[in-house]
Amino acid sequence: MIVDVLTLFPELFPGPMSSGVTGRGLAAGLITLRIHNLRDYTHDRHRQVDDVPYGGGAGMVLKPEPIFEAVRARTGRGPVILLSPQGERLTQQLVRELAANDDLYLICGRYEGVDERVAAHLVDREVSIGDYVLTGGELPAMVLIDAVGRLVSGVLGSEESPRDESFAEDLLEYPHYTRPAVFEGHAVPEVLLSGHHAEIERWRRAQASERTHRRRPDLLRHRER
Ligand code: ADE
Repeated sequence: MIVDVLTLFPELFPGPMSSGVTGRGLAAGLITLRIHNLRDYTHDRHRQVDDVPYGGGAGMVLKPEPIFEAVRARTGRGPVILLSPQGERLTQQLVRELAANDDLYLICGRYEGVDERVAAHLVDREVSIGDYVLTGGELPAMVLIDAVGRLVSGVLGSEESPRDESFAEDLLEYPHYTRPAVFEGHAVPEVLLSGHHAEIERWRRAQASERTHRRRPDLLRHRER
């Protein structure tokens, strides 16, 4: 998968994405990151990317022209996505949908906002990573790339592959344990030491379900099963 990122802070990339699973995916060429500096799409002496808001008010707004020019120069055919707190929420469902593309073009917003004509007339989707306001779209872009990248074929080893999607989907995970069997007086649940695979499976399902009911009942309302 090829991911283009348009940003005012190209030096932030690849950042945390150079480690771990995503780092391996990048090194293996399974994911290709192409970082574009928004300032490279300006034509004035000051390379100005923002301007004062029409109607007044605090802060600056990213100008439409450099963003339109950058996106129109792209080579990919996949969706163009603006990261912003106004977008649809990033969920695992949306992550799966995005992972089906050969390429993505991500636009990182900054300052007080982005000229609305970008959202209205240029991008295919506007995506938020949650109901809180960050200083820009760069961290959200990295979150999206991390989540989508791990679904790109070959990025996860067979050991790690998106597991047990049949029942784990839309449920929180069951509890995991490793050695020692007793740690500071706290024992691992007996069933996990039993070697009885069907019982272990049953216990894990029950745990996942009970946890989800208790901590995230909102997840169950969307569930048909
Ligand atoms: N930019 C600032 N806050 C954001 C958020 N929560 N999601 C996506 N982009 C953002």
